[in-house]
Amino acid sequence: MSVGNHSATRRGAAGLRLVLLGAPASGKGTQGQKLAQSLGIPKVSTGDMLRAARDAGSELGKLADGIMAAGKLVPDDLVIRLVDDRLAQADATRGFILDGFPRTLPQARALDELLERHGASLNVALCIDLPRELLMERATLRRTDVRTGQIYHLKYNPPPDSAQLVHRDDDKEETVRKRLDAYDTMTAPLLPYYQAKNILCHVDGIGSPDEVSARIDRVVQQFNGAGNSFAASNGPATSGNASGKDASTEGGADGA
Ligand code: AP5
Repeated sequence: MSVGNHSATRRGAAGLRLVLLGAPASGKGTQGQKLAQSLGIPKVSTGDMLRAARDAGSELGKLADGIMAAGKLVPDDLVIRLVDDRLAQADATRGFILDGFPRTLPQARALDELLERHGASLNVALCIDLPRELLMERATLRRTDVRTGQIYHLKYNPPPDSAQLVHRDDDKEETVRKRLDAYDTMTAPLLPYYQAKNILCHVDGIGSPDEVSARIDRVVQQFNGAGNSFAASNGPATSGNASGKDASTEGGADGA
């Protein structure tokens, strides 16, 4: 991975460098968008970047298209390069929220190396937990406005009449199942990885977007520019799978 003059990693401890973890449709995009707006730092979503590449008809997009439609993961080297290039952009100098990356241990190690080379590290790995049956419902009824990128849900967050909606190919029930399986196999191992670094925190994803957002805000406030001492103030977190819950889970449960 080439980092060159990587501006995103030259920020030292000035900004928040946060990874959003969680199974497909757990709410990473929705919460990442809110957090990015409130903190004034970019949300970097590898899923969004791959879909943009597909829609643009680039070589990467053509390659990724079939893989995504099958509910599988795009090869590590391709997404690592995407993130490397994206974090080099000026708007990432004050921090960033990574949504959907890293998704495998090699990706997590590559991200660490990228940051370490510039004397920086991740501050928080925040995992949104949700039971599998709710993940399925959230994915299959998701719709996105192509013009604004706004994420809606036909039941929980209905779109306005003016929205120009798309239904993601990989949100069909059978494909969602494969994506959930891929998460348990390939991505859940990141939880003990970040737990060992003392930066893992779980947030309960059940409840309205605003309720989940308030829980995430509390976690972020604990960070409060304290660098990697975040984990010490938040207590250790334990690992789990797509529906994992543990003692460090932030907030209570209420109907989705
Ligand atoms: P990606 O786009 O990253 O998909 P994902 O991780 O599967 O996550 P989703 O976008 O499905 O869900 P989300 O957690 O963002 O939930 P959302 O906020 O939308 O990746 C797609 C594909 O690209 C992958 O399968 C893979 O092929 C490839 N890829 C991407 N990154 C890769 C990587 N690093 N390596 C390899 N391959 C990669 O919410 C879901 C729905 O629920 C919405 O309708 C929303 O309105 C609703 N909702 C959200 N919160 C609530 C709430 N609190 N209450 C009620 N409804 C809610």
